[in-house]
Amino acid sequence: RTVAHVVGARPNFMKMAPVFDALAALDQPQLLIHTGQHYDEKMSDVFFRELGIPEPDVNLGVGSGSHAAQTAALLTGLEATVLEHRPAAMVVYGDVNSTIAATLVCAKLSIPVVHVEAGLRSFDMTMPEEVNRRVTDVLADLLLVTSPEAYAHLANEGCDVERIRLVGNPMIDTLLRNRDRFAPGPVRAAAGLPERVAVSTLHRPANVDDPVVAKQIVDALKQVAETIDVAIPLHPRGRQRLADLGLVSGEGIHVIDPLGYVDFVSLVSGADLVITDSGGVQEETTILDVPCLTVRPNTERPITITHGTNRLVTPEQLADAAAAVLQGEAVFPTDRPPFWDGHAGERCAREIVAFLDRLR
Ligand code: UD1
Ligand code: UDP
Repeated sequence: RTVAHVVGARPNFMKMAPVFDALAALDQPQLLIHTGQHYDEKMSDVFFRELGIPEPDVNLGVGSGSHAAQTAALLTGLEATVLEHRPAAMVVYGDVNSTIAATLVCAKLSIPVVHVEAGLRSFDMTMPEEVNRRVTDVLADLLLVTSPEAYAHLANEGCDVERIRLVGNPMIDTLLRNRDRFAPGPVRAAAGLPERVAVSTLHRPANVDDPVVAKQIVDALKQVAETIDVAIPLHPRGRQRLADLGLVSGEGIHVIDPLGYVDFVSLVSGADLVITDSGGVQEETTILDVPCLTVRPNTERPITITHGTNRLVTPEQLADAAAAVLQGEAVFPTDRPPFWDGHAGERCAREIVAFLDRLR
């Protein structure tokens, strides 16, 4: 009756940690599989250490590659692992290539799949994540959703609502659980940052792989840096391209390595403004009450706009929108997203155990 978890990329780790802990508290036997999709110390190991996640039982070490090459390596590695361990169910997280690969492998081997963070939709099929989400949700057996609109998307797609449960957001469990550890001052000091900063992260292919768009964003960030220092813990994807386009430290721009979770959220919690294309950061700024400008044409997380501090901007709008926020224009929510309360991991665990009981 072992439950296996598959994680592979940075945003998976903070979603999995509370679910894993809550299942452990219920004495549920678990197997942790790391695909190795992300492998740099600062993209992977640091989160295991900081969040107290046990060493993975299996690390497939698949590494980087084109979508086809990486997904093929994931499928082959995961199939062998699943056949060896034959878990009673597989839990997958979010929308990365490790998620879709694990789901496809299990569907073919008749191993039931639980998808944590199901039902998010950007309705933008040019995003690799949208492909991953849709295929994962078609194949998964239990769909655990973070927000009411995710429930509605699945129901509209014809999903049997018996398979869906609104459990809230385990990523926010991790945020709330670590709240006492967040201290922006020492992180700013270590990075040579002044007291007032904007924080920016960028890694979406549509932003960093397209040189025209990337250049517009780089220029907009430089404009923002004329008013406030901008700290940019840069994801490895696109790092070189952005540097070639002029995103280098100097004149209010601070390009730094990716930060560990506690340092990153600390820095964000004390920031005047966040500029991002991350999924998770839209959610975290909503709970931290930090204004967030998301440089994307759409979001699969609209609740961070209706119940949070998030706004979508084009690269052309970015500099003016940032100036307006810095002049006090930001809107703070009165309503929080339902069930983003620090107990989503426990609700996930209860649903997973009940699901296993129904399988018997
Ligand atoms: C992946 C996810 C994306 C998620 C992001 C979170 C997919 C399709 N995309 O994007 O949804 O938002 O993770 O961070 O799964 N690299 C390193 N070191 C690492 C990992 C990656 O240098 O530890 C570099 C490699 O050059 C690699 C590139 O980053 O080719 C992209 O990595 P990959 O895992 O393919 O996708 P991400 O852009 O990280
Ligand atoms: N994050 C981090 N260090 C950083 C940048 C982000 O710890 O330098 C955390 C962030 O707080 C959030 C998660 O990584 O919990 C989001 O991951 P990412 O932006 O890579 O992926 P996405 O959410 O866009 O899929």
